[in-house]
Amino acid sequence: MSEQDTDQGKRQFLVAATTVAGGVAAGAVAVPFAASMLPSERSKAAGAPVEVDVSMLAPGERVTVEWRGKPVWIVRRTKEMLETIKANEGNVADPLSKKPMQPAYAANETRAIKDEYLVVVGICTHLGCSPVGKFAKQAEAFDPNWQGGFYCPCHGSLFDLAGRVYKNRPAPDNLVVPPHKYLSDTRILIGEDTKGA
Ligand code: FES
Repeated sequence: MSEQDTDQGKRQFLVAATTVAGGVAAGAVAVPFAASMLPSERSKAAGAPVEVDVSMLAPGERVTVEWRGKPVWIVRRTKEMLETIKANEGNVADPLSKKPMQPAYAANETRAIKDEYLVVVGICTHLGCSPVGKFAKQAEAFDPNWQGGFYCPCHGSLFDLAGRVYKNRPAPDNLVVPPHKYLSDTRILIGEDTKGA
């Protein structure tokens, strides 16, 4: 099953909308997003951090939240999804995240503080389109050996499940990992760095 993005390259997104990884989850799950946790509209516009409770996010699912007017994706990666990241090392342009597209604490193979959760800005690093989630590991028209990740319909850039850009694609860089930190096992604050970073 799939509930893929419908924005097809436009910089539009749904605040706190949930999309389900194709072929991974059994159904669309509405992820509660407690409005009471959000900063006021005014402070949000000014760039205040945004707190997200990911406890209802099932393995293989993604939630999108807005931070500083940008969509931030949080994907709860399964063990199988994490395995594809290792398998993709030869396909991606910057496998070790040497370019500063993430805070130091996310400059690792999974580009995350916790392997389980990918936190990235959902904007293509080429010309700013919104890539589409193609999470299932299956042959795709754009790659017969697709391992799962994100496909940008504007000019064909591909990103894996760590947001690492594929080689020989127009996008020059990995997706941006925003500053963030964990307030608890399942509460993430986007917009504020992990202490000491
Ligand atoms: S904007 Fe994504 S490939 Fe061009």
